Amino acid sequence: MDPVRNPYAPGAGQRPPELAGRDDQLHAFDVVLERVAKGRPERSIILTGLRGVGKTVLLNALRSAAVRAQWGTGKLEARPDQGLRRPLSAALHVAVRELGHPQLEAVEQVLGTIKAFALRDSGPSSKLRDRWSSGIDVPATTGRADSGDIEIDLVELLSDLGGLAADLGRGVAIFVDEMQDLGPDDVSALCAACHEISQAGLPVIVVGAGLPHLPAVLSASKSYSERLFRYTRIDRLDRAAADTALVAPAREEGAGFTPEALAEMYAVTAGYPYFVQAYGKVAWDVAPTSPITLADVRVAVPEAEAELAVGFFGSRYERATPAEREYLRAMADAAVTRETEGLDPVRPSLVDTSEPATEPDSVATAAVAAVLARKPQSLSPARDALLKKGLIYSGERGQIAFTVPHFGRYLRSTA
Ligand SMILES: Nc1ncnc2c1ncn2[C@@H]1O[C@H](COP(=O)(O)OP(=O)(O)O)[C@@H](O)[C@H]1O
Ligand SMILES: [Mg+2]
Repeated sequence: MDPVRNPYAPGAGQRPPELAGRDDQLHAFDVVLERVAKGRPERSIILTGLRGVGKTVLLNALRSAAVRAQWGTGKLEARPDQGLRRPLSAALHVAVRELGHPQLEAVEQVLGTIKAFALRDSGPSSKLRDRWSSGIDVPATTGRADSGDIEIDLVELLSDLGGLAADLGRGVAIFVDEMQDLGPDDVSALCAACHEISQAGLPVIVVGAGLPHLPAVLSASKSYSERLFRYTRIDRLDRAAADTALVAPAREEGAGFTPEALAEMYAVTAGYPYFVQAYGKVAWDVAPTSPITLADVRVAVPEAEAELAVGFFGSRYERATPAEREYLRAMADAAVTRETEGLDPVRPSLVDTSEPATEPDSVATAAVAAVLARKPQSLSPARDALLKKGLIYSGERGQIAFTVPHFGRYLRSTA
C-alpha cells in the first residue's frame, strides 16, 4: 500500500500513531498531578522496562499531560560519565519558562539560582566548560545551590523552584530518561532532594525512566528510595492493546488487517511495541491492498527481521568488543540450555513478586561461565563492561539478562 501514508513509526522515542495500552499509567498520572498541585503527598514515579517497550514515548506523553495541566516541565536524558548539573539546569530553565510566573523578580531569583547550580559543575573537561553557556541571561546568585555538594545544592534548588510553582497553585515535573545512567552521587542527591521536597509538601515531582534494574540502583543509593518512588513496570502490550496499536492507525488511513494477520503479528512481535511498529511498517508496505492478510505478514516478516537485525539489534551488538560478544553469545546459549533442560524459567524474584518474570533469557552468571568453560571471575571485566554499556542488566544477584527483547534469539540466529 502507499508507503507515503504508512502510519507506523519504528524508532527510539518515536511517537507512535496510537499510544496503546497505557491508559492506566496516563490516568494515574493525572491523579498525581492534581494531588501534588493541591499539596497532597505523592511519590515520584519510576518507569522501568526493557529497551523498546515504550518508556521514552510514555515519558513524553506524561510530560504533555503535565504541560496541559499548566505545570512547568523539563526533561533530560542521563548519560554515563556526564554530571547532572548542566542537563538538569537546562531542563529546569525550560520548566521555569513554562510556568510563566508573572513576577519578574521572583523568576529571575530562581533563574539566578539555576545558573549558580550549573556553574558549580566541576567536570573534567575544562576546555568544554569554558565554552559552555547556561543560556540564562541573569547573573548567577550566590549562597544558594552553589556549595559544591550536589545533595545540598539540589535540595535548595528544587525548594526554590517548588516555591515558585506553589505560588501559582501548580507544580514542576522533571523527567529523567535513561535514569540508570546517572552517576552514584547524582542518584543519591536526586533521591535526597525528592525526599526533602515531598516532606516539605512542595509541588515538585521527578518522573524517571530506565532499565529494569533501576529500582536496585536507587535502593542501593538510598535505602528509603522504595518509599520515595512508585515503580511502574512498562511491559509488552497484551493482545488487545497490540491489535489497537496496529488497527487504529490503519483505520485512520481507511485500511485494516484480517483477523489471521493480526494473530500472526502478535505471534511475531510478542507485543513488544518496537516490534509492533517495525513489523507493522513493513507489512503495510508489502501488502498490495487492504486488508493486510496473513500472506502479507508472512512476506513482511523476513524483511522486518532483516531491518531489525541492522537497526535494533546490530547497532547494539556492534558496541561490544570481541570478548563482550563472546559473553553475549554464551548468555544466549545458556538461556537455551536451561530451557531444554526443563528448568523453571520463572524464578522467584526477591525484588518484586507482583511482576511476572518476562525475561526468559535471564540466566545465572555461573551458567554463562560454564558455557565458556571459564572461571566466573575471569569474565567479570566483560560482564561489567556490558552492564555499563546497558546491553545487559542484573535484576538480582548472580543473574543477568539482555536489556533488549529477543536479543538472545537474534544472536542464536546469526551464530
Ligand atoms: N504504547 C505504545 N503503543 C504503540 N507503539 C508504541 C507504544 N509505546 C512505544 N511504541 C513504539 O515503540 C518504539 C519504542 O519506543 P520507546 O519509547 O523508544 O521505547 P523505550 O524508551 O522503552 O526503549 C517506538 O517506535 C514507539 O513508537
Ligand atoms: Mg528510551
